[in-house]
Amino acid sequence: TTLSNNSAKAQAHTNIALIKYWGKKDEQLIIPYTSSLSLTLDRFYTQTTVRFNSDNDRDSVQINGQFISGKAWQRVHDFLTIVRDLAGIHLAAEVSSTNFVPTAAGLASSASAFAALAAAASKAAGLKLSKTDLSRLARRGSGSACRSIFGGFVEWQRGTSDADSYAQPLSQVGLNDVKVIALTTESGPKPISSRQGMNRSVATSPYYPTWIKVAQHDLIDIKVAIAAGDFTKFGSISELNAMRMHALTLSADPDFTYFNSETLAIMNEVKRLRHAGIECYYTIDAGPNVKVIVQSANATKIADTFTKLLGQNRVTTLSAGPGVHYL
Ligand code: PMV
Repeated sequence: TTLSNNSAKAQAHTNIALIKYWGKKDEQLIIPYTSSLSLTLDRFYTQTTVRFNSDNDRDSVQINGQFISGKAWQRVHDFLTIVRDLAGIHLAAEVSSTNFVPTAAGLASSASAFAALAAAASKAAGLKLSKTDLSRLARRGSGSACRSIFGGFVEWQRGTSDADSYAQPLSQVGLNDVKVIALTTESGPKPISSRQGMNRSVATSPYYPTWIKVAQHDLIDIKVAIAAGDFTKFGSISELNAMRMHALTLSADPDFTYFNSETLAIMNEVKRLRHAGIECYYTIDAGPNVKVIVQSANATKIADTFTKLLGQNRVTTLSAGPGVHYL
């Protein structure tokens, strides 16, 4: 096969889920049990270059300047094979990816990584995918990546098959003032991956069937709050939904948690601030770091509070960010 322009570079941003995705109905295709909703963020992103090269016989993958191997390489290789099959090519790829996150790590995300890889690899392979098809493709790498194709508030509609499980930006947004303060906690023992964690919750938590119903209601309610510009309702639902997701880890067999002692201390501090009349809410993904949801007017004051608690380089204030784009 020959390709006229066999190289492409793309940038995609991380997203924070406000209504969480937690559980796959179809593990192979990554079709979720529930729809989810997120906000794409501005300051954490990944840049990825893909080049299909007829001189190589094996995919090479570099992340932050280091060649990777083993499981991580396999995951990228499998994803590239989906792209090759779509494009009808049989060339090996050279992938080079850089994560732009603050120095205190633990915030690198598979969402921005697979969204950037989907965009760069598909273009380098000669495909011209629509945003919807890019979202479907990114989903195959990591579920949450399908939402990073778009900027701002994004909904992943669970669908029933590969064809109709993809993300879309929200059409009605009355909330234009949301900031997210990302807090990194002390990294402890390596947490259980989101893939393992959600599979165990689905298989063993007696509350999983209830989660499917509750998450559906939370999604409807938060969309109303976002459309109406109701920050209080928006923040409350986000915090509740995050705790409902984490209840699926505590109720699994064997049980597990992503929280560490600092996670709990931050949660208490958010509640204390709120009782003192400073409005803020927390959300937590499959790790010990916390994201605090605030309004612009309060952002500096709240960030300062957490800087005193955690230190300067563990606090990053983020705004809504853009969808995937080519460089
Ligand atoms: O996309 P994955 O497989 O890394 O799963 C993401 C899971 C959560 O971050 C906890 C929730 C979400 O919707 O992003």
